[in-house]
Amino acid sequence: MAIAIRGVSAEQTRAFHVAMGNPFGFDPTEQQTERMLRCFEVDRLRAAFDGDQIVGTFGAHSLDLTLPGGRLPASGVTVVTVLPTHRRQGVLRTMMADHLREIHEKGDEPLAALWASEADIYGRFGFAPAVQGLFETKIEKPKARLRETVDLAGTMRWIDADEAAERLPPVYDAVRRERPGMFARPDTWWRDRLLDDPESNREGHSALRTVVHTRDGRDVGYVQYRTKVGMDDDVKAVVVRELVAVDPEAERAAWQFVFGIDLSTVVKGFNLPVDCPLPWWLEDSRGVNLKVEDSLWLRLVDVPRALAARRYRTEGAVVIGVRDAFCPWNEGTYRLAATADGTATCDRVEQRPEIETDVNGLATVYLAGHRVGDLARAGRFRGEAAAIDRADRMFDWSRRPWCQEVF
Ligand SMILES: CC(C)(COP(=O)(O)OP(=O)(O)OC[C@H]1O[C@@H](n2cnc3c(N)ncnc32)[C@H](O)[C@@H]1OP(=O)(O)O)[C@@H](O)C(=O)NCCC(=O)NCCS
Repeated sequence: MAIAIRGVSAEQTRAFHVAMGNPFGFDPTEQQTERMLRCFEVDRLRAAFDGDQIVGTFGAHSLDLTLPGGRLPASGVTVVTVLPTHRRQGVLRTMMADHLREIHEKGDEPLAALWASEADIYGRFGFAPAVQGLFETKIEKPKARLRETVDLAGTMRWIDADEAAERLPPVYDAVRRERPGMFARPDTWWRDRLLDDPESNREGHSALRTVVHTRDGRDVGYVQYRTKVGMDDDVKAVVVRELVAVDPEAERAAWQFVFGIDLSTVVKGFNLPVDCPLPWWLEDSRGVNLKVEDSLWLRLVDVPRALAARRYRTEGAVVIGVRDAFCPWNEGTYRLAATADGTATCDRVEQRPEIETDVNGLATVYLAGHRVGDLARAGRFRGEAAAIDRADRMFDWSRRPWCQEVF
C-alpha cells in the first residue's frame, strides 16, 4: 500500500506519540502525550500513514538561530521515526524531501537543523555536523578544585520554577545572542520544556534545582542541576543540566558553587561548549575528561540567503561551486563577498568556481565550528590553495558555536 504523508489532527496526536515511542523505545502515558503537545508545534507535525496506521513521524520547531554576527529562522527537525515494520523503504526520505521542499517554497526558513541519533542517517539529505560539544564530562570530587578561588561578588540564591521563568530568560538571551548555534527560547519552551519537571524526567535524581547569581543588582548567571546524594548511594553525583553566565567571572563563580555542593563524590556535566574554560581554571587540568562529539547538524536550504546572512571574519571574496543532489535548487556557483565590517553579499554567477564543495561542506563550516582548511585537507573542499586559505579566514569567527540543548 502507498504511504501518504499528512499533517496530524487533534484526534491523531495520541497515536502519533505512541508511534513515535515505538522506535525511540518508550511507551508514553496520556499525561506524557499532553506534555508532548505543549512542547511541540502541532501544526508542524507530519505523519506517514499506511492506510489508517501511523508508521512514521516527523516534526519541526520554528527556531531563531544565532549565526556568526547574525541570526536566521531555522527549521528544527525533530521526532523523526519510522516503525521497524516499515524501515528502509524510503519513508524517511519521502518525509524529509517533503519537508525541505515545503520550507523552500514558503521561503521563510533558509536553514534546517537537527540532532542526529546516528551519524550515518542525515548526510544523504545535505545535513552535516556543524557544532560540537563536550559530553560525559565528569570530575571526581577531589579534583573539583579551582586554581584560584572566586571571591564571590554578589549573591547565589535558590529559586523555584516560577521565579526561574522570570529571571533565567534575560541571562540566557544575553548569552545566546552572541553565541552561534544557540537558539531563542519562547516562553512556552521555558515553561513547558525546561522548567516543568515531572518525576519521569528525573531518572532517579532529585528535582531540578535552580540557583541564580546576582551581581551589582543584575542576574549574571545561573546553574540548573540535579543531585543523587542519598546516604546509601555509592556515587553521590551533582549533575549540571545547564550552566549559563554572561561573563567568565560569573561562569567561574557558578562552577565554584557546583564544586562546593556537599555530600557529592562526582560532578557531571552534559554538553558543555568546546571552548569551556573549565580545564584552564582547575588546579589539575587533567581532572576533567573532555569527550568531544558532534551536536547540532545543519542544512542550508537556501544557500545564497544563508551565506549572506552571517558575518565573516575577514574582508574578501570567493567564488564557490556548490553541489546539492537532494535540493537541486541550490546547485550552482556563487560569489560570496564580505566587506570590512563582516557583512556579505552572495550572488549566483556564471563563472569558473575557485573552490568547490557539496552543500554538506558548506553546512560544516557555516557556524565556524570547523575550518575550511581542515575540510580541504579531508578532500571535502577542493580548489587552489590561495582560495582555500582566503575562504578559511573568511569563514572563521571569534566564538566557537555551541548548541545548548537537544531537541
Ligand atoms: C532513522 C529512521 C527514521 C530511518 O527511516 P527509514 O524510513 O528506514 O529511512 P529510509 O528508508 O528513508 O532511508 C533513507 C536512506 O537512509 C539510510 N538509513 C536510514 N536510516 C539509517 C540508519 N539508521 N543507519 C544507516 N543508514 C540509514 C537508508 O539505508 C537509505 O539509504 P539510501 O539513501 O542509500 O537508500 C528509522 O530507522 C528509525 O526510526 N530509527 C530509530 C529512531 C531514530 O533514530 N530516529 C532518528 C532520530 S534523529
